[in-house]
Amino acid sequence: MRSDMTPLTPPDFEAFFSARASAIQSSAIREILKVTERPEVISFAGGLPAPETFPVKQMKAAMDDVLTRCGKEALQYSTTEGYAPLRAWIAERNSTPEAPVHPDQVLMVSGSQQGLDLLAKVLINPGDKVLVETPTYLGALQAFSLFEPRFVSIASDDDGLLPENIGESSRGAKFLYCLPNFQNPTGRLLAEERRYRLAEKARALNFLILEDDPYGDLSYAGDKPPTIRSLAPERTVYMGSFSKILSQGIRLGYVIAPEALRAKLVQAKQATDLHTSTLAQMSAYQIVKDGFLNTHIPTIRRLYGAQCQAMLAALSRHMPEGVSWNAPKGGMFLWAELPKGMDATALLAKAVENNVAFVPGMPFFAENPSIEALRLAFVTVPPPRIEEGIKRLAELIRASR
Ligand SMILES: Cc1ncc(COP(=O)(O)O)c(C=O)c1O
Repeated sequence: MRSDMTPLTPPDFEAFFSARASAIQSSAIREILKVTERPEVISFAGGLPAPETFPVKQMKAAMDDVLTRCGKEALQYSTTEGYAPLRAWIAERNSTPEAPVHPDQVLMVSGSQQGLDLLAKVLINPGDKVLVETPTYLGALQAFSLFEPRFVSIASDDDGLLPENIGESSRGAKFLYCLPNFQNPTGRLLAEERRYRLAEKARALNFLILEDDPYGDLSYAGDKPPTIRSLAPERTVYMGSFSKILSQGIRLGYVIAPEALRAKLVQAKQATDLHTSTLAQMSAYQIVKDGFLNTHIPTIRRLYGAQCQAMLAALSRHMPEGVSWNAPKGGMFLWAELPKGMDATALLAKAVENNVAFVPGMPFFAENPSIEALRLAFVTVPPPRIEEGIKRLAELIRASR
């Protein structure tokens, strides 16, 4: 600094923030959960896939091969739409006889979270009605909220959202955001019959469907009901992700959209990040093209299925009367309810003091949150620790009554 310059005074940044940014709130729960990174904490909180499933060796070999064969292409800017061979692979994998996917319909995104942001950007005006499940994925509520929609919550039960509850008041909604397979946060699977009724409802009331499906491959039994896209391809945007089946660190997801919408998303993505990492796309393609996922996905399913069973057994063994939970058929989470009137956020504070953590259900509701609900992730905790963690939670619940 030269001596004739005015001294540095930090500006009041609050005054510079947009109204949109000022409306973003920090989460009290996130503050409590910060401590869960300590190794002594048994954490059922994180939504992170199990690190032992990461194909480190395959990724190293794939990157090496890509850089050796076509390093200049891999390190260059590329098209916003994404790496053509990977898009063709995705199109083929997601095609059904009734609803084929053309590679041109596929847009590669930097994680499906970016898909949510781009869709919000191109679809939501302030005050627009957006239909969501009860509860729904917190990250989608965050992405959509920045564009100030009016959320309309659609009631759900153990078989997913209830299409008959999408009534006339939903007419004029821009879209329904739904997670039919092993939903985050509940692990619920949308019943097949409801998928058909949902497709009909969307046509009758003229809204779009945003189908977010990062967990669809993680069915423990390996079966999968039809996607909503296959039932209403003309109005469904499907989001897929490599995060839960390959790696989330490479930030690779995709959106399959009807042409007019895909073109708009491409424009929005250009403004956001130009394109998704070329090296990541080429390396992922190198891994998947010869069928690696055909053996890798069943390995993940077996691991998660066993962890889920371990948690269900521990819950049955230890939980007192009045606590209930579901039994997911796939995915990474289960959903529990504390006895009526018991606050999961208050329980979390005590749980963290006892080195065990979970995520209270409240932030997953767009409206009328349930204080008793909580999400338990079982995939990163080995069974003996699952047993110990659930036992500790059960003791705290007994003591809180
Ligand atoms: C339902 C849902 N959608 C989207 C995402 C974001 O995934 P990605 O890593 O592909 O951005 C997640 C991540 O946990 C999720 O649970």
